[in-house]
Amino acid sequence: MTDYIATANPGFAPYAMEELRRRFPGVKLSGLAPGETFKLSSGDIPGEELIASLRKDEPVFLRHLFPADEEAGLTADPEETAGTMIRFAKGLAAKLAGSTVAVQVRKSPDSPFPFSSAEGRDAIVPALRELGAEPVARDSKRILSVYAAKKSLYLGLSAPRDNLSDWPGGAVRFRREEGLISRAAFKLLEAERTFGLPLGGFVNALDLGAAPGGWTSVLLERGVKVTAVDPAEMHPSLEGHPRLRHIRRNAAELSFAPGSFDLLVCDMSWDPHHTCRIVSELAPALSAGASGIVTLKLMYRKPLQTIDDLVGEYAKAFEILRVKQLFHNREEVTLWVKRKP
Ligand SMILES: C[S@@+](CC[C@H](N)C(=O)[O-])C[C@H]1O[C@@H](n2cnc3c(N)ncnc32)[C@H](O)[C@@H]1O
Repeated sequence: MTDYIATANPGFAPYAMEELRRRFPGVKLSGLAPGETFKLSSGDIPGEELIASLRKDEPVFLRHLFPADEEAGLTADPEETAGTMIRFAKGLAAKLAGSTVAVQVRKSPDSPFPFSSAEGRDAIVPALRELGAEPVARDSKRILSVYAAKKSLYLGLSAPRDNLSDWPGGAVRFRREEGLISRAAFKLLEAERTFGLPLGGFVNALDLGAAPGGWTSVLLERGVKVTAVDPAEMHPSLEGHPRLRHIRRNAAELSFAPGSFDLLVCDMSWDPHHTCRIVSELAPALSAGASGIVTLKLMYRKPLQTIDDLVGEYAKAFEILRVKQLFHNREEVTLWVKRKP
């Protein structure tokens, strides 16, 4: 049995837990930070098997996890806490020597942990150097994770790919705050990275519900030609862009010549079933094998049921490649589909 510390977007841990229970009936789950972080004990399933299964077919709501190799008592005493973390690192000397390692420290709001994340990292880094490891911020061979809960400190060492995300707690950050048309742009950037779908590889995109133009601007930056559909105005900075056509109409009223686009993106803040109808009716405008990235608003009480229903509806015109709640998704998930031939 292996224990893990698992994280979902705020408020969505109950759904991440439900997905895990359905897939692995023997697992044990208990909340640590309400709605967001929980402990997962793999029960009879060997940890490696659980991780391999999760990596192969990622659940929608589980954003991140790391193995809790050690659970230690926690007080507010800085020296004692630093000592616990350093002792844990020293116990892994053989694995750490000669390896790049990222230290990721997080805490629950009710934890007495006496450090900020950065201070917690700084408390371990000198010991890692002494052990012959190379502490780095990103792209490391290993991740040393620390999660401080109310009473316990959980510590683990893992390969980044086994955490589902190599960002602390799966909180993906982009350094593009300046000049960004809308924060919505982060959703498309995260989808590109998470799904391994370089947007610059597309030629003609249809952006439904495009205003004010965050997603459109990302696509234009990647060199894609964009047809943006939205009755609302686009950001003035996009006006007159040579590769942008803005159609100020309701997407439900439009049709295009067959095979016009190799990418459809859709971020309409609307009932997800209506959105599905609009996207499916526009499917013939996509070339065979074209990709679609669509946000599905979770406006009903049973998100897992809503997702199942929508996947069934989208599957009529599309092959479903992924459904994932990205870090930048709020009350929604992101769907990646492919137009059926
Ligand atoms: C969340 S915003 C989209 C943000 C955009 N992705 C960005 O990055 O800036 C939702 C947009 O969907 C548009 N919308 C809603 N229903 C629509 C419809 N039936 N046809 C076209 N646009 C629609 C709204 O006018 C609104 O501008």
